Order: sequence, then C-alpha cells, then structure tokens
Amino acid sequence: MIIAPSLLAANPARFGQEAGRAERAGADWLHLDIMDGQFVPNISFGSGVVKALRPLTKMFFDVHLMCFKPEILLEQFAAAGADQIIIHAELDGQVESLIWKIKKLGKKVGLAVNPPTAITAAQPYLEKIDMLLVMTVNPGFGGQTFIHECLPKIQQADAWRRERALPYRIEVDGGINNQTAAECARAGADTFVAGTSLFGHRNLKAAVAKMRKIVNANDPALADLKV
Ligand code: DX5
Ligand code: ZN
Repeated sequence: MIIAPSLLAANPARFGQEAGRAERAGADWLHLDIMDGQFVPNISFGSGVVKALRPLTKMFFDVHLMCFKPEILLEQFAAAGADQIIIHAELDGQVESLIWKIKKLGKKVGLAVNPPTAITAAQPYLEKIDMLLVMTVNPGFGGQTFIHECLPKIQQADAWRRERALPYRIEVDGGINNQTAAECARAGADTFVAGTSLFGHRNLKAAVAKMRKIVNANDPALADLKV
C-alpha cells in the first residue's frame, strides 16, 4: 500500500519545505499535479517546480499530467526528475504513442481514467502500463468530494489484474480521506493520493501513519490470509 500526498494541497510558497515534511512524515510517493488550463480549467505548476524539488527529496515523483498536449511535455518532466508519468485515457488516439514515449524516456507509465469515462477505455493498455489511476473526482481542483460511483471501476480494474495476472498498481485520486481510502482499499486500490486530507494536518506524520494503518487493515489480500 502506497500513500502519495498531493502537493497541490500544500502552500505553493513553501513547496520545498512541504515536500520535506511529506518525506519526514513517511510518505512513499509525492504526487505532482500538472494542469494546463485546457484539459482542466485550472493551472498548477510546471517542470521547473519539479526540477527544483528533485534534489530536496528521495521520494518517488508521481507526475500526473492533466494536459491536452502531453507529448510536448514528456521530455522536460522526465529530465526534471519524474519517476512515473501519468497520462489520461481521454486523449484517445494518442495513448498508445504516449505510453511508448514515456517508456522510451525510462520512466514508469500511469494511465488515468476520469469519472465520466468508462474503465474499458483503459482495457487495451493494461499490459503496457505500470499503474492505472481511477480518478475519484473530476480533475482540476483539490478539496472536492469523492464520487462513490467510481468504486465499481476499481473493482473491475482489480478483477482484470487478477484474471490476467498483471502487475499494474491501482491508484485512486480525489476526495481521498481515511473513510474513502478504506472503501477504495476494499475495492482493490493499493495506491492512495490525498491532498487536502493530509496536507491540512499539522501533524502530517500521524495523518500518513493513520491512513496507512486503515488501508492496510482494509487490504482484501490480507483479509484472505486471515481466513
Ligand atoms: C485533482 C488532482 C488531485 C488532487 C486531489 O484534480 O488530480 O491529485 O490534488 O486533491 P484532494 O485530495 O484534495 O481531493
Ligand atoms: Zn492527481
């Protein structure tokens, strides 16, 4: 189980310190939300910020591109220190070549599916990706409410993974708190992005530890072992 605080919820004037705070809190990954003002109606930050953060932490950088033209950004985010680059299934015809380009840059590949998009949009790519991101809010802003209708998509992604013995992770992103993280873990998620519910805490270490304990307790694989 991986806990990935989303830097979007941190104070932008203190990104460096906040990344350090997440690492000291025991977070596994740092989730970096890149918004271009076109794919989503908001702008966040670019590869310059990722590059500036890279020497400050050893955390795995999970770069989520909510961008209309990711092909013009892949090289700069790879060079800036991304460990994984996530692109969106909504980009239809471009997905295959984007996956190939990210792999060629030596980075892990994530594929994201927005709430209105059927999970079957990701099906043709399951053998080529390292992670499937089931969005649990419509992307663009932090602090939104978890959309429960997305839970069956997580179950389906997990069922495919078992049937085909594939190794991809299942990440959830949007409105994740201790309660919704538990629901997602029971549905088969293993990677949890949380912005508001983690960075909002003065004691981030305690918040990360609590979320980790809760998702581990709701891990269906461990439940099987207990039986
Ligand atoms: C949503 C972003 C998320 C966002 C999550 O557009 O992709 O990563 O930061 O924020 P919370 O956890 O506050 O919903
Ligand atoms: Zn995200």
